[in-house]
Amino acid sequence: MTAFKELVGIEAAKYVQDGMIVGLGTGSTAYYFVEELGRRIRDEGLKITAVTTSSVTSDHAKRLGIPLKNIGEIEAVDLTVDGADEVDPYFNGIKGGGGALLMEKVVATYTQKYIWIVDESKLVDQLGAFKLPVEVVQYGAENLFLHFENKGYSPSFRMKDNSRYITDMGNFIIDLDLKKIDNPKALAQELDATVGVVEHGLFNGMVNKVIVGGLEGVRTLEV
Ligand code: 5RP
Repeated sequence: MTAFKELVGIEAAKYVQDGMIVGLGTGSTAYYFVEELGRRIRDEGLKITAVTTSSVTSDHAKRLGIPLKNIGEIEAVDLTVDGADEVDPYFNGIKGGGGALLMEKVVATYTQKYIWIVDESKLVDQLGAFKLPVEVVQYGAENLFLHFENKGYSPSFRMKDNSRYITDMGNFIIDLDLKKIDNPKALAQELDATVGVVEHGLFNGMVNKVIVGGLEGVRTLEV
């Protein structure tokens, strides 16, 4: 699996050109994209500016000497490359397994070309087997938890070291064990309208290209 992640990371880095503002995703697959950008800067003199989607990726990029800006300092990102937890045939996806969904969605929203890099296991016929991460404000999080429970969404608070996981933006994550999401668009609208929800991990129709790594090599799915 690691080999596939590295292959798609390297493949995605081929789309990066001098002068671009590049969004750096988060997770074990995006890691290899960031590594390859670091290598190209070092070996080929590639000149880019990057924005990142988490403190972990910021630290990684700094170690590699990748010049960084804050998303608020730029108007648009030319290209963002990120991982995903599930991708359906209509290019809807679930993200946030690594807890960075809010920053990832902010960067994706201001991105002109958005690429996901995944291994074959992430391609699904229907979203929902992966628990849907929902980032919520801490105030009233228990009330929201009950609300999701009453709706039959089987919520659980994301935990880390026996405490509730706190995102880079200072919020909690409630994971919804939905099993099957019949209508991703309707669910996204419902969550967008739920007070206390900051963002959710449904990224519906945002991506332009999905680079998939598997036993038969690397293939690119275009929207
Ligand atoms: C982090 C994410 C990741 O991109 C997603 O969880 C995939 O990660 P990995 O490449 O490690 O499987 O959304 O919030």
